[in-house]
Amino acid sequence: MVRGEGPEARCGRCDIGRVLVTGATGGIGAAVVGVLHQRGYDVLALGRDAGWLAELQRTLARTHAVVADLARPETLQAAVGGIDRLDGLVHCAGVAEVADVAETPSSMWQETFTVNVAGAAELTRMLLPALRAAQGRIVFINAAPGLHAVPRWSAYAASKAALRELADSLREEEARHGVRVTTIYPGGTATELLRKVRAQFGLPYDPAACIRPETIAGLVVTALELPEDAHLTELSVRPAPRAE
Ligand SMILES: NC(=O)c1ccc[n+]([C@@H]2O[C@H](COP(=O)([O-])OP(=O)(O)OC[C@H]3O[C@@H](n4cnc5c(N)ncnc54)[C@H](OP(=O)(O)O)[C@@H]3O)[C@@H](O)[C@H]2O)c1
Repeated sequence: MVRGEGPEARCGRCDIGRVLVTGATGGIGAAVVGVLHQRGYDVLALGRDAGWLAELQRTLARTHAVVADLARPETLQAAVGGIDRLDGLVHCAGVAEVADVAETPSSMWQETFTVNVAGAAELTRMLLPALRAAQGRIVFINAAPGLHAVPRWSAYAASKAALRELADSLREEEARHGVRVTTIYPGGTATELLRKVRAQFGLPYDPAACIRPETIAGLVVTALELPEDAHLTELSVRPAPRAE
């Protein structure tokens, strides 16, 4: 068991200790890393920006940089091949280009599906033996567009629909190994991704009207720490309505 030691090392479930988080350099992923660190987990922070991750590793105890590019799934083995036990895998990495189908080149479809689906699938495949060894939890950050069509956002919405199918199949397959799979479907969350997307749609972006990334991170912790008698399969969360 590799859970951090010391007075701050206290997790809701005593048998959850080491969690790998993708998208660790982004809004939601960084919040997940921060909350897990506060709760005493040993965190493997996966991302592309080696300098950013090295600084994270230097400043947060029990946090380890895993440099990898999900757009190149064939390189993932070298990054995570040595991990033999893992209590949680949280998929936060994602890309979300905005374009009409008429303006979406094949390269954009390929990058979106590789990062959002195939990279996540390959990383999961690599880590399944370690997750099975710990009867671990897998959390996918999906999106509201994974549940319905969005004009001008077809590649993103299609990739999230595919991610939903991946998670649903995986949940059935891994049940016999005691591995639990949760999908979280957030609405607008205050991150750089949403700011950029809203600008591309010509829509206003008010972070105060969005979900805070830390709130999503809290839901991830809920999924990871749920008691043994329950399996949180799906969770949808939207920005709260504001009284006029
Ligand atoms: N924000 C929202 O409103 C919202 C709503 C619903 C769902 N989501 C989902 O939540 C997840 C996180 O989004 P976010 O809002 O936190 O976005 P973000 O701030 O843009 O973060 C995205 C993360 O994905 C990483 N990433 C992108 N391409 C990668 C690649 N090829 N290899 C490895 N990592 C890569 C980014 O790394 P780099 O820094 O290297 O680019 C970044 O860490 C996404 O899956 C998104 O679809 C977001």
